[in-house]
Amino acid sequence: MIILGIETSCDETAAALVADGGRILSSVVASQIDIHHRYGGVVPELASRKHLEAIVPVTTQALEHAGLDLEAVDGIAVTRGPGLVGALLVGFSFAKGLARALDVPWRGVNHLEGHLHSVFLGDNPPSLPFAALLASGGHTSIYRVSGPMQFELLGQTRDDAAGEAFDKVSKMLGLGYPGGAVIGRLAGRGNPDRIKFPRAYLDKDRLDFSFSGLKTAVNQYIRHHGDDLERLSADIAAGFQEAVVDVLVYKLILAAETTGCSDIAVVGGVAANGRLRERLLREGAVKGLSVHIPPLDLCGDNAAMIAAVGYHYLREGKRSEMTDDVYSRYPA
Ligand code: KG4
Ligand code: ZN
Repeated sequence: MIILGIETSCDETAAALVADGGRILSSVVASQIDIHHRYGGVVPELASRKHLEAIVPVTTQALEHAGLDLEAVDGIAVTRGPGLVGALLVGFSFAKGLARALDVPWRGVNHLEGHLHSVFLGDNPPSLPFAALLASGGHTSIYRVSGPMQFELLGQTRDDAAGEAFDKVSKMLGLGYPGGAVIGRLAGRGNPDRIKFPRAYLDKDRLDFSFSGLKTAVNQYIRHHGDDLERLSADIAAGFQEAVVDVLVYKLILAAETTGCSDIAVVGGVAANGRLRERLLREGAVKGLSVHIPPLDLCGDNAAMIAAVGYHYLREGKRSEMTDDVYSRYPA
């Protein structure tokens, strides 16, 4: 069963073809970063327009890369939410129209379920059940995953998402949007122990997160050391990154230990962070846990993960209706 996946929830226009929910035949991602960079964040109206320009070429390219034409598509999966409504509507309406034209079933998919599925698409999928950390620009949550469609939310951030904190610190340091990769690179040149920022464990037994206090602490530090920022920025980035990674690693391992999972996974844009990957692999091994992290191209937004989720719904005959709408936040 070949599923065409479509993703337009934020600032990436993506299309992918996935066979039987697990084999990626092609995955094309057109990033709008260059456009939004100059505004210091995603401009929703611009995002929608760029999705509209890119959606047909990106889909055509995905078909070309897979060596397939539209007749080979057995079903369509598209991100329904959460995300920017105007951006989601571009992919969602496109998918509806294409499904109608091709007379194939289609399914609107939750973007977060998509991220969780990205770990099944890598070379080293976890065994069930496993504890998964989803860390992206909009979400930071821990789930217990007991099946391809069975996710139990164990904890989540009470304020900022981890990726959002990276983006905000990048902005404070004058390094622009998006900030995750920039801060990650800068931190690699800094000393993580030189500036000690607060770790918000909240209740050490619970699996919730909070990153707004850390963000404020970094902001205050920058204000007090404004004259010396050039010299200090790598150490600030490293100190901040270490504070985020400490908490993420601690809570994910705690989740595995308290829910009887021997496998752990991290997904979402922040899973691309080198320090997080390194620390999880090391500390997971010390605890006897098997650690699973998707390859870099599946950490950020992509349509292969959406196709993978859609496969499981469509295989069970769970289709969307032509009257269905997108949602900005879950639940609809
Ligand atoms: O999953 P994603 O592509 O989109 C959302 O669903 O939000 O995640 C984007 C987030 C951004 O906040 C970005 O700064 C962060 O992931 N990110 C990183 C890295 N690469 C992307 N954060 C830390 N280190 C990175 N290397
Ligand atoms: Zn995402």
